[in-house]
Amino acid sequence: MEYLLGIDLGTSGTKTVLFDLDGTSIASHTIEYPLHQPQNGWAEQDPQDWLNAAKITIREVLAKSGVDAKDVKGLAISGQMHGLVLLDEEGNVLRRSIIWCDGRTQAECDEITAAVGAERLIEISANPALTGFTAGKILWVRKNEPEIWAKVRHILLPKDYVRYMLTGTLAQEVSDASGMNLLDVPNRCWSTEIMEKLGLDPALFPPLVEGSDIAGRISAAAAAETGLCEGTIVAGGAGDNMAAAVGTGVVCEGRAFTTIGTSGVVFAHSDKVQIDPKGRVHTFCAAVPGAYTVMSCTLSAGLSLKWYRDTFCQAEIDAAKEMDTDPYILMNQQAAKSPVGANRLIFLPYLMGERSPLLDSNARGAFIGLSAMHTRRDMLRAVMEGVMYSQRQNLDVLSGMHVVPSEMLACGGGAKSPFWRQMMADIFNMPVRTVVSQEGPALGVAILAGVAAGLYKDIPTACEKMIKLNPALEPDAAQHDAYEPFYELYASLYPALKEAYGSLSKLN
Ligand code: XUL
Repeated sequence: MEYLLGIDLGTSGTKTVLFDLDGTSIASHTIEYPLHQPQNGWAEQDPQDWLNAAKITIREVLAKSGVDAKDVKGLAISGQMHGLVLLDEEGNVLRRSIIWCDGRTQAECDEITAAVGAERLIEISANPALTGFTAGKILWVRKNEPEIWAKVRHILLPKDYVRYMLTGTLAQEVSDASGMNLLDVPNRCWSTEIMEKLGLDPALFPPLVEGSDIAGRISAAAAAETGLCEGTIVAGGAGDNMAAAVGTGVVCEGRAFTTIGTSGVVFAHSDKVQIDPKGRVHTFCAAVPGAYTVMSCTLSAGLSLKWYRDTFCQAEIDAAKEMDTDPYILMNQQAAKSPVGANRLIFLPYLMGERSPLLDSNARGAFIGLSAMHTRRDMLRAVMEGVMYSQRQNLDVLSGMHVVPSEMLACGGGAKSPFWRQMMADIFNMPVRTVVSQEGPALGVAILAGVAAGLYKDIPTACEKMIKLNPALEPDAAQHDAYEPFYELYASLYPALKEAYGSLSKLN
């Protein structure tokens, strides 16, 4: 038998999954790690945590499955996007990574826009300067930590750093690189023009590879630490959203998915470059060579529910432990006892500021309409509804660009909840399906590794072979009508609060 390994380097943890060539998951293992928030709106992680998690999960998966390492024909990594990893001459990490949901770089983004020109920046990098993206983080370190900046020789994104440590080869994969504000997205090459205008030395950035290219091979040292064979093929992989697209078969026009992971993403495939001139949604290179994506990213989707769980649901956490179940299952049961609209309570899920479609790092969460009659179950339902309204608002932006999917694939941790999936179908007013394997990003990069290893002729052929869909969940017309006025009200709340958020951000 032959196998492929997919590693999903996420924000809450890293999950490694071993697949057979039909896309069936044979074994998986996850390791969680912390998110450091040294200041309100900042977010950092330790690259060493990612690397350890990758090595341990590979070892565990091989041990659990009993598969002979020589039958693993290739692997690849799906990575949380945009995080800044700075290395010195010897390849040592110089500081914690400033990651995708960090909002400290508005001043640097303004600088980038001024230096490159707003229109030219969108023309080249397909996106405006955004606080989540990498270029602003680079400029922030250069300005605020000159002693660290002086030692920087290589700049990588999270999964490309882990791949470098497993293979010894420096490479930057192109779908992920699209989220740096430094790539010429239409031409899939580094933009020397942007780098020059920002005073960044192009030598800091490694050569680019496509996701299904061989980007390196497992080194002797990594083989000893992981149990893999030295020389095993490691493909370029992809940014997590582009990897999820491959893992759900969203590799041709008309297909779309929504992820409720830590972040929330509405993602559609496109054979040509399509750009929102207002920059509310992103255009990236797809993992499919020559293709593109248009996608939104909200910063606190699953993160909102996790925050609610950790802050208010100790009772469910304890009960779940007793019952040997997942606290989210008990929380779903509670939320289902509150009606549509959560007894007139609306939650704004802007806990880390908001990217799509607001582009406002000062925005923050809110419960609107809180009354003494509300219970925890109303608040819980309001959180779940608010997250789904924020996805719907982005779906509306995509529709405005004539990207109108006829059905939605649901992925990420949130897609495991039948209650949340039905809410998606009702609020989006379209059928919602899931992929049988539920391993979107890990399966997606395993497919890329399979193509790199020559097991499949191309990505769509591999998707045909490895991806199976579950039957669709249909929207309920009456529920859709009931949600509509709440959604409309939701959409009107941020504009009403925008100024107050700005003032709040200036208070100590
Ligand atoms: C996409 C984005 C997130 C991260 C983390 O632009 O910032 O989806 O990739 O998952």
